[in-house]
Amino acid sequence: MNVSLTQLDACAPPSAPSHTQRRDVLIDAHGRTIEDLRLSITDRCNFRCIYCMEPDDRFLPKRSLLSLTEYLNIVDAAIDMGVRKIRITGGEPTLYPELDTLIRELGRRPLDDIAMTTNGWWLDATRLTCWKSDGLTRLTFSLDTLREERMAVMTRSKTSVQEVLSSIDKAAHAGFPQAKINVVALRGQNDDECADFADLARSHDLHIRFIEFMPLDSGRSWQPSHVFSEREMVEAISRRHPLQQQPTTNPHSTSLEYVFADGAPGKIGIIASVTRPFCGACNRLRITAEGAVRPCLFSNQEWDLRPVLRAGGGIAEIKKFLRDATWTKQAGHSIGQDDFRQPDRSMSAIGG
Ligand code: 5AD
Ligand code: SF4
Repeated sequence: MNVSLTQLDACAPPSAPSHTQRRDVLIDAHGRTIEDLRLSITDRCNFRCIYCMEPDDRFLPKRSLLSLTEYLNIVDAAIDMGVRKIRITGGEPTLYPELDTLIRELGRRPLDDIAMTTNGWWLDATRLTCWKSDGLTRLTFSLDTLREERMAVMTRSKTSVQEVLSSIDKAAHAGFPQAKINVVALRGQNDDECADFADLARSHDLHIRFIEFMPLDSGRSWQPSHVFSEREMVEAISRRHPLQQQPTTNPHSTSLEYVFADGAPGKIGIIASVTRPFCGACNRLRITAEGAVRPCLFSNQEWDLRPVLRAGGGIAEIKKFLRDATWTKQAGHSIGQDDFRQPDRSMSAIGG
């Protein structure tokens, strides 16, 4: 189908005020400055986590996915405007055929932090070592259960817990710093494992980050009653291992950080997006695998940068587009309020 010019115009953000156009920063209408760019490099995934995808979810056609050059052009524009931190996400980013080249190219650029989130289904030790020397700074793993029988139910995949734990181990051997493990806590599914994960943090010096279930599942089954809250997580862990909350040092941190009161190794973080939103401190901008700029994870508004890229738009045009899109970043989400409408895209099609 040919897209008419009017439709393309409708996908571009309105021009941000002129005083922002003269500055090389990405600033929104609420005074927040973007420093963290999240690139979703594929919407494909070999898992179908129950809080994210449905078994029969369709993927985007290949022709609509951004090319490596298109990603790098966006990154260069963003770096010119102050972005210093990139997170590579998916879907499952290791399914992206040009991942190794992308990491190598990012590693050559003036970035402070290049992180990647993976489900850890199969990571090769040699490849991990290459990523480390090419400039990937941190790895975050998704793992929601330590029980093999539950793993199959929660991820609807054949990957075992042992396999993911072995990938985490290989990452440590390849020289990556303390791994973060994301655990989405679902009431009635894995909420009885919080203290077991705390045991793992202590025995392997890991940073376990519990995430409240967010309304970003493609099956749209999210309900407030499914959310196992930050308060409940802290209570569940503290019954076995008392926790001590840490003062926040990073103003843009999305998680509440805890250490063990008895001084044991390991850390616990909690991303309480639903019960304790952190929108005021958000410094993130997201690019989807088909080139939509999403100023907010929960937004229903996104701006289609791909036509600009495919029409041969240069860095100046991309910068203007990012500047305008950033200006539209909403103040915060309204989960739990009457006017909240779940975004059309699921987490796998946005990038975490
Ligand atoms: N709610 C909370 N976290 C989610 N993730 C995916 N879908 C959801 C959801 N609906 C998490 C994944 C991954 C990170 C990128 O986002 O587990 O670790
Ligand atoms: Fe795949 Fe991550 Fe979604 Fe699970 S949460 S289905 S691993 S994209």
